[in-house]
Amino acid sequence: MSQHFNLDSVAFFGRTMEEYLQAFALSTNDLIGKRVLDCPSGPDSFVAQVNTLGCDAVGVDLVYDKSAAELEAKGRADITNCLAQMKAKPEFYPAMDFEQYSKSKTQALELFIADYKQNRKRYIHGMLPKLPFADRSFDIVLSAHLLFVYSPLEEDGYLKYGHSNPQHFDLQWHHQAVREIARVSAREIRLYPTAAMNSAPRRHRYIQPIMADLCANGWRVAFEPSQYRQLSTEMNDCLVARRLS
Ligand SMILES: C[S@@+](CC[C@H](N)C(=O)[O-])C[C@H]1O[C@@H](n2cnc3c(N)ncnc32)[C@H](O)[C@@H]1O
Repeated sequence: MSQHFNLDSVAFFGRTMEEYLQAFALSTNDLIGKRVLDCPSGPDSFVAQVNTLGCDAVGVDLVYDKSAAELEAKGRADITNCLAQMKAKPEFYPAMDFEQYSKSKTQALELFIADYKQNRKRYIHGMLPKLPFADRSFDIVLSAHLLFVYSPLEEDGYLKYGHSNPQHFDLQWHHQAVREIARVSAREIRLYPTAAMNSAPRRHRYIQPIMADLCANGWRVAFEPSQYRQLSTEMNDCLVARRLS
């Protein structure tokens, strides 16, 4: 399968809480009463929605120093751009209802923007691989659609380098980022997706070294099947790591 998707920079593109629960193989009962970090949170509406259910969730993202108006404009432009790329290669998305997909991304953006205006303290400016939190600050840390997805094009990811993105999400960066995510979690981390999104169905090439590193640092790791299906890819699992001590 040839590469079907490429981006010059990380998209400001987010999912709803329902999509997050599917992606991470979680139910709301798993989260009620817990301290949860969404990292990066982008324009997803997980934090906005799950807080209304009794979960103590915050999000971190490198663009959370910007105004709501700037983020809304960026979010709408990125939905248009991503959808245009997907629609240009429909053979990669045989089961995709593009209209519904676009609707859920817009719904997530609008819920996020309303909460960003109303509950600004839930949205913390920060940039992996360094997070502005003390060790073990959260019960669970969730990380979707930055790790693995934005590795270089030639390493199973979406990102073209030498363009407008100053970051380089290579394996070394991934090791630093996952160690940092693990540092701020007291119990559990979940990473999604784990598939190589831009090539034949198989695990992303960084997954095995990342799992080995977690195991060597006192974590037990496993895959859990995910129900969120953006691509018709196999290996649609999230990686779950639990602290052993
Ligand atoms: C595609 S969005 C994913 C949003 C959400 N996690 C989801 O799955 O719906 C990727 C986000 O990563 C953020 N980002 C990019 N580099 C980052 C970094 N080094 N640290 C923290 N956030 C970063 C971008 O600003 C963007 O909002």
